Amino acid sequence: MRKIININKVIKPFDRKINISGDKSISIRFVIMASMAKGKSIAKNLLRSEDVLNTIKCIKNLGIKIKFKKNYCEVMGNGLDGYKYKKGLILDAGNSGTTARLLSGCLINSKKTIKVTGDGSLKRRDMKRIIEPLQKFGATFKKNNGKLPLFIKGSNFLKPINYTELKGSAQCKSTVMLAALLTPGTTKLKCLPSRNHTELLFKYLDIPTKIKKIKNFDLIEVKGKKKYKSFNYNIPGDISSASFFIVLTLLSKNSKLKIKNININPSRTGIITILNSMGAKILFLKKKKYKGEINADILIKSQKNLKAINVPKKINSTAIDEFLLLFLVAAVSKGISTFHGLEELNKKESKRLDWGFKILNMLGIKTKKIPNYGIKIYGNPKLKLNKKYEIKNFLKDHRIFMLSVIAATTLGGNWKIHNPESINTSFPNFNSLIKKLGAKF
Ligand code: S3P
Repeated sequence: MRKIININKVIKPFDRKINISGDKSISIRFVIMASMAKGKSIAKNLLRSEDVLNTIKCIKNLGIKIKFKKNYCEVMGNGLDGYKYKKGLILDAGNSGTTARLLSGCLINSKKTIKVTGDGSLKRRDMKRIIEPLQKFGATFKKNNGKLPLFIKGSNFLKPINYTELKGSAQCKSTVMLAALLTPGTTKLKCLPSRNHTELLFKYLDIPTKIKKIKNFDLIEVKGKKKYKSFNYNIPGDISSASFFIVLTLLSKNSKLKIKNININPSRTGIITILNSMGAKILFLKKKKYKGEINADILIKSQKNLKAINVPKKINSTAIDEFLLLFLVAAVSKGISTFHGLEELNKKESKRLDWGFKILNMLGIKTKKIPNYGIKIYGNPKLKLNKKYEIKNFLKDHRIFMLSVIAATTLGGNWKIHNPESINTSFPNFNSLIKKLGAKF
């Protein structure tokens, strides 16, 4: 693959149906949960991106057999205490925060010290958020500075914990739930809402899990040590990947797109709620329930006259991976948009809030910082780009690369975008799919 791509044409009107690859969060959860089930689990449409392949590599290093067949993936689970490995094991999660964090929750019963590490971007990210609860369960962390690499040693005397999660992080919540699964007794979590795929999978697998909503919190109780059977899963398309094509269509001229079988779990659809409040008319068709999740086709048309929005912090977790796209839409909408409480955005694969400011300013859009990690965007519906734009040094953040491609193919300008290989993290066929719709680069 080339190291830099050039784009200097907007996309022509299109009317197409597409499929998007499997959901990343569900794919990673499938591999992890299947590894601790008893027997053979099968997933169809498992995402084959680097984040998922790194999860698979780590789980294989823990002695679990995983095979790719022609159109499915097979995991030979070995039960709750079933990982087998030699002294000095190193697990490399690559770029994936979900893998490093969730997997650490599965290691709290390890007999030997395991090193968990990752790439340059992942080594900068906060791990204190999972170290603290896992220590309370009884795991020990050597040479701990709150970042990767972690050196985890489990305990034979794990005890259940009471834990409060205030970041609205599904990764923290899921790490604690997985640790709870390996711990005798009942672990109690009080957390701000976030994507709930782990809860739905626990329920589907009959792991004793109680969930209640009280005011702004989810209260979750997990009774540990419950063995569960192997299972099959058809992974739906990923709404976070679909979002790039949703915004592409919305901002292109006279275009229409149907995206088939996407997971529309309400804890993930913040982008649709926000875009529809800005004047888009995105529809869910053929809604179907599947193992506690909801999947549907998504229909989207180009839309002129989008209007500004004020997004409260409360719904941030439902759109956490989509804010760069939302900033771009705000940039061409009428009026001043505000987004609040986006501290977590600077803790992703790159500092995405800072990048939001940088990219919009590069495009000539006025922005202002507001207290507590907020951004004010002065929209310009007449925005047309005709200068040279270059995007580089973004820590190969896949979502910054794809956002830049969407900006270039909808707003014009002469773009040089570095690191096209970054798409392999979450959406390996992004470039070929957008080219099929008519993008030229
Ligand atoms: C994920 C949760 C989110 C999201 C990430 C995937 C998950 O992170 O940004 O891409 O699969 O649980 P946080 O839960 O840390 O916000």
